Amino acid sequence: MFAIVSDIHGNLEAFTAVLAEIERRAIQHVVCLGDIVGYGPNPMECLDLVNTRCRAAIMGNHDFAVMYEPFNFNSGAEAACFWTRKAFEAESDADKRAARWKYLGNLPVRIRTNDFVAVHASPRRPINEYIFPDDIYTNPGKFVSIFERFDRLCFVGHTHVPGVFLEGPDFYSPDELDYKFELTDEKAIINVGSVGQPRDRDPRSSFVVVTDTAIEFVRVPYDEGSLAGTLTRDSRWPEGDFRNTYFGPENLGPTVDRVEALQKVVPDGMTLPELALRFVLAHPAVSVVIPGMRTAAHVRANLAVGDAPPLDPGLLDELRAHRWDRTPTAWSG
Ligand SMILES: [Fe+2]
Repeated sequence: MFAIVSDIHGNLEAFTAVLAEIERRAIQHVVCLGDIVGYGPNPMECLDLVNTRCRAAIMGNHDFAVMYEPFNFNSGAEAACFWTRKAFEAESDADKRAARWKYLGNLPVRIRTNDFVAVHASPRRPINEYIFPDDIYTNPGKFVSIFERFDRLCFVGHTHVPGVFLEGPDFYSPDELDYKFELTDEKAIINVGSVGQPRDRDPRSSFVVVTDTAIEFVRVPYDEGSLAGTLTRDSRWPEGDFRNTYFGPENLGPTVDRVEALQKVVPDGMTLPELALRFVLAHPAVSVVIPGMRTAAHVRANLAVGDAPPLDPGLLDELRAHRWDRTPTAWSG
């Protein structure tokens, strides 16, 4: 039994929550399919953790971009790449700095065992090719060529959308599979999803657990919406909603305390979500924020923040004092 993670993207909160779940399940071996860095604020911490915790890791397009040159990146991803490169260079310990560049530069583009092939993107173009669920309708011929490149099982990440592709071609989301895919002789491409930036409308981190007979898709919450300011000590959710576990007594009380303290510094005429977004955007390294949106009103409010003037420096200092460093515990797994 082993776990496969991918697309951590410098999101340390998400990665530590996933590793806590892997530990809780007593899984010894972890494989990482790349994009360790890019977008998130903790690329070096994530790289160090992959180095110590993962048995093998593969190069993703963002790792490649930081090491060499961004290729086909949008402006936000490119800015994140250059920021990450600068952060690596700013490490004052020369040995640590060199070791990290060496580790990044030595990542292979493909792992091949008797049982499977693993790449970041696709067996045809291992670093860069996207295999999207929509391709089965818009470009079915692509699958003929891709399925010719491996014998039975191929693990990928890259799109941040977990699920199983069969040779049909067909695609099944984890939800449609009840989070478990039983292995047969049929060829399959398994997308393990993303730890740090899921893009399938489920905000929880994604990874898979592989046994001899099946692939289990696992989702782990690492934080959820407390800065919307709507939680109370009595908040409960429908049966089966993961927030009932995540916001257990150990987490809900302290979270509400923190949010209440923050509410006191929200200026007149502003909401807590607006203040939170403007605080994040005030950081010079941040060019894009993708907040949660469930209604048209959310979309309008989020867009309006982009045109708002910078926050007062005094208020920014006051907000920085509310920093909350947390260590993931049982409730976050
Ligand atoms: Fe990625």
